[in-house]
Amino acid sequence: MPESKLQNGHKSYTRVWCDGCYDMVHFGHANSLRQAKALGDRLIVGVHTDEEITKHKGPPVFTEEERYKMVRGIKWVDEVVEGAPYVTTLETLDKYDCDFCVHGDDITMTADGIDTYQIVKDAGRYREVQRTAGVSTTDLVGRMLLLTRNHFRQGQYEYHVAKEHSSTMGQDSSARSPWTGCSQFLPTTQKIIQFSDGKPPKPGDRIIYVAGAFDLFHVGHLDFLEKAWEKGDYLIVGLHTDPVVNRYKGSNYPIMNLHERVLSVLACKYVSEVVIGAPYSVTKDLMEHFKVDIVVHGETPVMNDEDGEDPFKYPKYLGKFVTVDSGNDMTTEKIVDRIIRNRLEFEARNIKKEKKELDMLKKMELKENGY
Ligand code: CTP
Ligand code: C5P
Repeated sequence: MPESKLQNGHKSYTRVWCDGCYDMVHFGHANSLRQAKALGDRLIVGVHTDEEITKHKGPPVFTEEERYKMVRGIKWVDEVVEGAPYVTTLETLDKYDCDFCVHGDDITMTADGIDTYQIVKDAGRYREVQRTAGVSTTDLVGRMLLLTRNHFRQGQYEYHVAKEHSSTMGQDSSARSPWTGCSQFLPTTQKIIQFSDGKPPKPGDRIIYVAGAFDLFHVGHLDFLEKAWEKGDYLIVGLHTDPVVNRYKGSNYPIMNLHERVLSVLACKYVSEVVIGAPYSVTKDLMEHFKVDIVVHGETPVMNDEDGEDPFKYPKYLGKFVTVDSGNDMTTEKIVDRIIRNRLEFEARNIKKEKKELDMLKKMELKENGY
């Protein structure tokens, strides 16, 4: 047993290993890391290179540098291992001093259809957590490719969504993968509580307020929140509602609905609190209610409110408004552009992934039935 784990001859803490692509990091990834962290003391996350992902799954949407940074930004992550191998071996667990590996209850396969966790499963060094239904990179890419707003109306139009989605992906709607097939995400107060710190500001804390859409939470948002967080002690993020975001972004924005955006932002290590559906203008009431010391915005353009007024008029009048340069030019629109530009490649990747999962499901069913 490695030295670091021994204290008076007894094992002192548990190091947990997770690995994955973490492409277009979403709250499903964050929720798996949250559950994994709860199984031990320190969480070490291995992230695959672009080359490995392209080989086994198809091209990632984000570069490895962007993906490493995004995983480091998740509040349950203690260490990131860059360029972790696609197949998890006992050597990898030992090299990083990890007791066991944790993965969601879906199947990950190599390009040759082999379970990437078979070795650690056989060695009894594998634990499973519940995959978050209704969110996946595949689904988000699908939303961008379809350019629909159906995810705003989940529940009411589920049948149409499934039909539209399956016909575009060239699949029969009765044969959807239970893992990445487009299912509905059901936000609950429990999930919000699990993601939230639940800590009020301490007396004397300098309170920072930022507001925005934070749609498809990305590295630009992360760099911005880090800069904003450096301005004080307690960071509150006001999230605009879907109709408000749609008013100023147009088209089918936001890609993620308010509940989904809340969880993505809450998973960020710089965020203390989220306002679920903040007013577009930063009002006197809001500033007083949250005892805001400073309002921060990035260098992206700001549209006037419906009454033609600057939404930051009040904090500016108080001399409590600052802008920061995130140093990152990523935007939600750029992500959508990346997807649209590589539309055929991503469509093919989505179809391939779901087909691989359906084949695996069939094999598992046959095995269960004794064939
Ligand atoms: N995960 C999860 N819930 C989701 C999506 C992913 O719990 N909705 C978990 C996976 O089970 C895995 C980890 O997140 O343990 C990393 O997953 P990753 O390798 O990035 O790939 P995918 O499972 O393919 O994620 P996605 O379908 O979103 O691409
Ligand atoms: O565009 P959105 O409303 O999601 O932006 C939220 C906040 O993040 C804004 O303050 C915006 O200026 C900032 N941001 C940034 N750098 C980026 C993207 C967003 O500073 N690349």
